[in-house]
Amino acid sequence: AQERTLSIIKPDAVAKNVIGEIYTRFEKAGLKIVAARMAQLSREEAEGFYAVHRERPFFKALVDFMVSGPVMIQVLEGENAIAKNRELMGATNPKDAAPGTIRADFAESIDANAVHGSDGPDTAKTEIEYFFGR
Ligand code: CMP
Repeated sequence: AQERTLSIIKPDAVAKNVIGEIYTRFEKAGLKIVAARMAQLSREEAEGFYAVHRERPFFKALVDFMVSGPVMIQVLEGENAIAKNRELMGATNPKDAAPGTIRADFAESIDANAVHGSDGPDTAKTEIEYFFGR
């Protein structure tokens, strides 16, 4: 089905100057960038976005990292966009990410892992609303 998903290019990948290379991967896979905005997230925004992880041991490190520099936030649209984006990203931990995926090619660690992508239809809806709701 035609879907929309939320994607974030994280501070590590923005600092590496690979926004364009990552956008090219989305576009070559048939995903259309239908909204985009660069932002320096505040702690409140980052904590709110990752609220489901609030009790996890890595929460503070995750928020510290997400506010460490600008991020590029986009909505991707296309056939099976949610799964397709997750395929392009590769596993959360770049050590486990398949060769040729964004995380295998651009990420250094499970914290600095280059990109975020919604993990299902419900989170996609919530996450798109969170950043592009008004
Ligand atoms: P992301 O897809 O943005 O969602 C939550 C992030 O937390 C995840 O990518 C990782 O960058 C980070 N993280 C750090 N440690 C872990 C962990 N043990 N499990 C899952 N995510 C982790």
